[in-house]
Amino acid sequence: MKHTQSLPEPSAEALRHSEKLVAMIRQEIFRNQGSISFRRYMEMALYEPLLGYYVTGTYKIGAAGDFITAPEISPLFSQCIASQTAEVIKTYKKGGGWVLELGAGSGTMAADILLELERQKALPERYLILDLSPDLVQRQRQTIAKHAAHLLHLVEWISQLPEDFNGIVIANEVLDAMPIEIFTQHEDKVYQHHIIWEEDQLREQLQIADSDFQKTVQRLQIPFEATPYTSEFNPNLPGWFETLGKSLQSGMILLIDYGYPRREYYLPERNKGTLICHYQHLVNEAPLFYPGLQDITASVDFTGVAEAADKAGFCVAGFTSQAAFLANAGLEDFFMRALENNPEDQYKLAQQVRTLSLPSEMGERFKVIALSKSLDVSLSGFSSLDQRYRL
Ligand SMILES: C[S@@+](CC[C@H](N)C(=O)[O-])C[C@H]1O[C@@H](n2cnc3c(N)ncnc32)[C@H](O)[C@@H]1O
Repeated sequence: MKHTQSLPEPSAEALRHSEKLVAMIRQEIFRNQGSISFRRYMEMALYEPLLGYYVTGTYKIGAAGDFITAPEISPLFSQCIASQTAEVIKTYKKGGGWVLELGAGSGTMAADILLELERQKALPERYLILDLSPDLVQRQRQTIAKHAAHLLHLVEWISQLPEDFNGIVIANEVLDAMPIEIFTQHEDKVYQHHIIWEEDQLREQLQIADSDFQKTVQRLQIPFEATPYTSEFNPNLPGWFETLGKSLQSGMILLIDYGYPRREYYLPERNKGTLICHYQHLVNEAPLFYPGLQDITASVDFTGVAEAADKAGFCVAGFTSQAAFLANAGLEDFFMRALENNPEDQYKLAQQVRTLSLPSEMGERFKVIALSKSLDVSLSGFSSLDQRYRL
C-alpha cells in the first residue's frame, strides 16, 4: 500500500456523487452557524443516507477496492473466529445462543463462519447481521447465497439490535470506521477540530474546546511532551456499549481491529494522530478530499473500549494481538486442513498466513478483545499471551 497526497482523479460520475455530498455538508455547516465538528463531518462522509462512502456502492472491498480486510485475505481468519464462536454457542442449550455480526462488509466472513460452524456442529439458531449500509446488505445476501446457500435460512438482516438475546457479537474492523473527534493541545489550550466552508471549499478550523470536550481530553492523561499535539478519540463508544449491553443479556463480544492500548496510542511521537484515508489502495491523510469516495479511519484506543464496555456491564475476558489470537484459535490446523484439500495452493495459503500473522503485516497492529457478560467461558484464542495487563 502506498502513502500519497496526490490522488488519482475520480471519474466524472464519482465526482458528481462527491459534489452532491459536499453540497449537503455545506448546508449542514450553514445550519450550524458556520461549522460542524470533525465527528459530524466523518459521519456524513461515511454514512449520509444515499451518499456516504459505506452507504452507496462506493465502498469497494478486496484486491481491486480501496483496502482489504482479513476475511477477504483468507477464509483461515474466519475459521479461527468460528472456532471461538463455537466455544460460546456450545455453552447454550440448542438454539439458545445466537450470533450477531456487526458491519459484515461483503458477507465473506459470515459465509465462512457459517460453513465452519456447520463442520463443528455448532450452528446457531440465528445468525443476525446489522449493517448501516443497504447496499452492503444486498452484497452480503449474494455472497452467502453463493458460498453457503443451504445456510442462508439461518441469516437474518436487522436494522436495530434485538430487544434481548444471548450469544456472541462479532465485529471485524467496525470500531475503526466509527466517527471520531480530533483535538489539538497547544500551549495549555485544547482545540477541537471543526469543518467550515471557506473560499468555496471545505476547510479544517481549530476552535477552543468547550469544557466537556476538554475534560474528555484530560481523562486520556496524555503526557503532552510534544506540543502542538494532535490526536483523536471515539466519543461513540460509551453509547455503543450501553446499547449493546441492554440487548445482550449474556454472552461475549469479540472485536478485531487495528489499534493500541492507550499508553501506546498517545505516544509523544504519534503527535499527528492516527487518522488515515484509503482511496484505491492509496493511503493519504486528507479526509476532506472527495468526501463519499474514500474511507476515513482511525486506530482504536483499546483502553477506551475496555472502559466503555466495563461501564456497560461487560468484563474484559481477553486481549491480545491478532497473531497470538489466531495461533491459539487453531490457525495451523486450519492451514493444514486447507493444504490437504488443495496441495497446489501451498504457496497461496502460506502467503495468507504470513499476511494475517507477521508482525510487519497484520499480526501485531491488529488486536483482538473479548468482552463477556454473565458467561463463564474462557476462549482458547487467549489461552496464551493474554495481554489484558497492557490495557
Ligand atoms: C471497514 S468495513 C469492515 C467490513 C467487514 N467486517 C470486513 O472485515 O471486511 C466497516 C463496516 O462497518 C459497518 N459499520 C460501521 N459502523 C457501524 C455500526 N455502528 N453498526 C454496524 N455496522 C457498522 C460499515 O457499514 C461497514 O460494513
